[in-house]
Amino acid sequence: MSSLTVLHASQIVTLSGPKRSRVGPEMSELGIVRDGGMLIRNGMIESVGASDEIEKNFGDANIIDAGERVVMPGFVDAHTHLVFAGNRLGDFERRARGETYEQIAKAGGGIWSTVEKTRAASEADLLTQAKKHANWFLCCGTTTVEAKSGYGLNVEDELKILRVVRQLNEEVPLEIVPTFLGAHAVPREISPGDYVELVIQEMLPRVAAEKLAEFCDVFCERGYFDIDRSRKILFAAKNIGLKLRGHVDQLTNSGGAKLMAELGATTADHLEQADEQGIAALKKANVQAVLLPGSVYALGARWYPRAREMIDTGHSVVLATDFNPGSSPTPSMPMILSLACTQMKMSPAEAITASTINAAYSLNRGNKIGSLEPGKLANFAMFDLEDYRELAYWFGVPQTHSVYIEGECV
Ligand code: NIG
Ligand code: FE
Repeated sequence: MSSLTVLHASQIVTLSGPKRSRVGPEMSELGIVRDGGMLIRNGMIESVGASDEIEKNFGDANIIDAGERVVMPGFVDAHTHLVFAGNRLGDFERRARGETYEQIAKAGGGIWSTVEKTRAASEADLLTQAKKHANWFLCCGTTTVEAKSGYGLNVEDELKILRVVRQLNEEVPLEIVPTFLGAHAVPREISPGDYVELVIQEMLPRVAAEKLAEFCDVFCERGYFDIDRSRKILFAAKNIGLKLRGHVDQLTNSGGAKLMAELGATTADHLEQADEQGIAALKKANVQAVLLPGSVYALGARWYPRAREMIDTGHSVVLATDFNPGSSPTPSMPMILSLACTQMKMSPAEAITASTINAAYSLNRGNKIGSLEPGKLANFAMFDLEDYRELAYWFGVPQTHSVYIEGECV
């Protein structure tokens, strides 16, 4: 099979380091090689180092001159709602007039309005829209995304979304990791208690039997799923072999972070309102914190999660877009890096670690992706920049030069 040599990157940001997610000061260590090169065989990285060393061994490999650009692992986006129908332009305008996420949801917008459109859409229509979104991610330098269901809220439509995720994964180069989020909201036609039973008795067994998801998520929030109902669903999911993620302490502090710690979840996501005990519980239980500044920004809120405090106390922090039509309509990880640095006081290096190697571990793929090291997949992006810090610094500027997945330019 094919070989490829990348030469003369101004910086190859390798993220080489311990074979686990990075914490505290480790998040600042990017393993940068100046005038770097990389040898790729059969879609895998064989060696990474100085261009002149790599050049000696390239043999018959095709050469790509990186032209003094930055080469980095493709971004790994560990929290998205990739498959949905339509948009929420009405919500967007209402928010601009000063209404809150909760007020808009009560007035007929919010998650429910996307559920109605998604239920009405065919699998083929959803796939067409999802392909457009998948292409946006690639254009921003992202090579793997997690994708949640959650806009179906009945057995058939939740399964429909997860089948679209599966189909999408087969048809586009972007790698997609599926998560079941049946507990995203309580649908209008059924009581909360009955819906929890439906999720546990009917949805979860089908999701597991058809192997449609690796993770289970819930929206643990006032007006959505309280702590007891969230616990019940996640506990059942864990028992059938799914790993756990959770939307917790986003709009109010309901003790969701503590619940994720108690259940040994893989990640606790959002955490804008989490308190000190909640944050400490996550660290103790080794639950990764997935921070989503795009949703704070797009909701016009002020309170960003306390990333600085988390990193300084040794948490493994992940950054993700939360791409969805309501609270975070962006697929752009560079935009998230900008927000992380300007609003959450993370350094550019910490933000890159959080959106590559740490994100890869949060998706159970730390051994395959997230860094440019021998033995890993050649999933990387080249940016029209000389210095990696420019990624977070120039905002709103297209910076992607090219993107490779398993050594193929996509
Ligand atoms: O992560 N918080 C719940 N879910 C999404 C929003 C989904 C929507 O508004 O459609 C989030 O912010
Ligand atoms: Fe979300």
